[in-house]
Amino acid sequence: MSKPSILVARAIFPEVLQSLSQVFEVESNQADEVWSAAELTRRMQGKVGALTTGSERIDAALLQANPQLRIVANMAVGFNNFDVPAMTAAGVLASNTPDVLTETTADFGFALLMATARRVTESEHYLRAGLWTKWSYDMFAGSEVHGSTIGIIGMGRIGQGIARRAAHGFGMKVFYHNRSRLSAELENQYKATYVSKDELLKTADHVMLVVPYSAESHHTIGAAELALMKPTATLVNIARGGIVDDAALALALREKRIAAAGLDVFEGEPKVHPDLLTVPNVVLTPHIASSSISTRLAMANLAADNLISFFTKGKSLTPLNTVVA
Ligand code: GLV
Repeated sequence: MSKPSILVARAIFPEVLQSLSQVFEVESNQADEVWSAAELTRRMQGKVGALTTGSERIDAALLQANPQLRIVANMAVGFNNFDVPAMTAAGVLASNTPDVLTETTADFGFALLMATARRVTESEHYLRAGLWTKWSYDMFAGSEVHGSTIGIIGMGRIGQGIARRAAHGFGMKVFYHNRSRLSAELENQYKATYVSKDELLKTADHVMLVVPYSAESHHTIGAAELALMKPTATLVNIARGGIVDDAALALALREKRIAAAGLDVFEGEPKVHPDLLTVPNVVLTPHIASSSISTRLAMANLAADNLISFFTKGKSLTPLNTVVA
């Protein structure tokens, strides 16, 4: 019996490709070309499954052109590149990679917070430029992290990982805002207090964004929200581009209306708003919050296992929708 055909849309760990090849006829993209929507649609022809990353858009047009498709497994926890209702309507199962990246991503949230508050990259650029000639009492004096107040917007798995580190590792006061409140037990565990978004923005020393992207969360932080923040505050975005209005943020940073920002994700990435590249008080990283070797491997394996399990056992491990077979 011939193996089902799948597409692996981007380069992936060779050992994961190897395990997929045991079960599937695989078309891969180890050259890691970034395909246009038309090219992705064309490559999808004849494939019953696909492994994608957050960069590939699965929408109604692609689904219509590929009625044979049955499952798309995203190698990401975020899935705003999927039109899930359109996938459900087309009978295509969608899956993502939750849990395996929670702690690694929360670690990186803290890495960005520390680098931002303590001006790590700004001071490194100064040193590399040969500008360091003497020690000074206030050189690159930043803001305190331990004992300060963190405001977390989005209290899902990663938000809770940040809260745990903040409360128990850094003795921080934890405020959070979320669509729904945590149970009293979880609030106790993270020593977290639920507040309105405005109160959080007005009181936090450090604001951390960990909310999924959707039409409702578009520009969760824009000019009006930045105006509520303290001039000494920092903002960290490890969620998605589009959660922050990057142009408004660049202006607020330039005018020192907030102290600094740390960004792992950008509107229209991999393009970065040019104004962010010229303000010194921002730490910029290329969407790497989940990128430890073992976590990226675990994500790739989970995406692959979703495909394998769907075709061998009739169900995926971490589905986002229910489809009728
Ligand atoms: C990365 O951004 C992810 O959603 O996993």
